[in-house]
Amino acid sequence: KRKLILDVDTGIDDAIGIILAVKSKQFDILGITTVNGNVSLDTATRNTSKILDLLDEREISVIKGANAPLLRNSFFEHRIHGEDGLGGALMDIKVKKQQDDGFAPDFIINSILNFPNEVTLVMTGPLTNLALAVKKCPQIINHVKEVIFMGGVVHGGGNVTPTAEYNMYVDPEAAKIVLHAGFESITQVGLDVTRKALLTEEHIELIENQKLADYIRSSTTDYRKRYFERNGIWACAMHDPLAVGVALQQDLVTREKFYVDVEVRSELCDGQTVCDFQNRLMKPKNVNVCLDVNVEAFFDMFIRIMNSSLD
Ligand code: BDR
Ligand code: CA
Repeated sequence: KRKLILDVDTGIDDAIGIILAVKSKQFDILGITTVNGNVSLDTATRNTSKILDLLDEREISVIKGANAPLLRNSFFEHRIHGEDGLGGALMDIKVKKQQDDGFAPDFIINSILNFPNEVTLVMTGPLTNLALAVKKCPQIINHVKEVIFMGGVVHGGGNVTPTAEYNMYVDPEAAKIVLHAGFESITQVGLDVTRKALLTEEHIELIENQKLADYIRSSTTDYRKRYFERNGIWACAMHDPLAVGVALQQDLVTREKFYVDVEVRSELCDGQTVCDFQNRLMKPKNVNVCLDVNVEAFFDMFIRIMNSSLD
């Protein structure tokens, strides 16, 4: 099985990404690392543990990471993810699974050094933990199998500011470090593709596992309502689950390598991912950018995995 570390700021869609990764049984999940983002570090960590409880999964370690962006203040998204970060779905649940000791950037470093060229990193929050790991131990850069991150947008607008996607906006300095670190294989799963992966009630009705269907329905209710108010469709984007999906099945997306950078010094454009489509800067291409997605294939896989038994 492929070794995986998931790095999350567990809000609604991160949680569904975790469920997808665990239930796929395709990965040896070394640990789930948490980061400040949609919600505080503590809430993200608690939510991650709640989701593992929901899955009756007690073996996977949950390791806390950065409790703030590298240089900036926190920017929580309770408007979207609710006060608890999971749309209120598991509000009254007491966490059985406790977090493990350690610090996420160190856990990432040690895992990569212990299993050189074997570890895939799927990042679905701000990139703070990986940036800290790279700064502390640059040696890891040449020994990561693959980095897949949800973040950015290269066509169309952002979802926080007119130009910036949330994960990039929250910690653009970290994103800049990660994009320029020199990873052999780093894939951006940005809004260009995740916006197309819209979960609807029809999908949820296909989930036969009642516990999961109920959880996903209730966790996404306000999220879907918000989308409806803006776009007239009851749906919500599966941003983070699609990043997990790309790790599971490469051909879900079409990607092309470009030079990509992140703006860190602009009043209007901080956090914008700038993709040099025409190679104007003549810099080496650093990022595989997802340009399109086979939405039907993604949801086929999503429903199949949700309906598989856990044993
Ligand atoms: C990203 O921002 C967060 O709100 C989601 O969890 C996702 O990782 C989408 O822009
Ligand atoms: Ca996220």
